[in-house]
Amino acid sequence: MNIKLCSIDDLKKSNSIKELSVSAGEETLELLMIYSNGNIIIMENSCPHEKIPLYENSVIAEEDNSIECVNHGAKFNLTSGAPLNFVTNRKLKLYKNYIDEYGNIYLTIL
Ligand code: FES
Repeated sequence: MNIKLCSIDDLKKSNSIKELSVSAGEETLELLMIYSNGNIIIMENSCPHEKIPLYENSVIAEEDNSIECVNHGAKFNLTSGAPLNFVTNRKLKLYKNYIDEYGNIYLTIL
């Protein structure tokens, strides 16, 4: 299932970061979408450490392709979701996405 979210231009106009609530069947997903290093990254908008929203509480570092939760400093790789320090051993949940020929971004749920 592909769910249309927004266009790449819309994402760039929002400082390349956007929070979204998306209905997917019977569940609502709270997502964070980022444009970083030319890639679209869609993740759960929740820190795996103590579940606080990442939208208001994180810093993206394009130079090392990471996102850091400012609450306790947990850092995650934006490509794999893997933790990069010892604050938590839980991975960040990432979602697949698809971009059509018009630049529209879709969430892909298998
Ligand atoms: S809640 Fe994010 S690092 Fe602790």
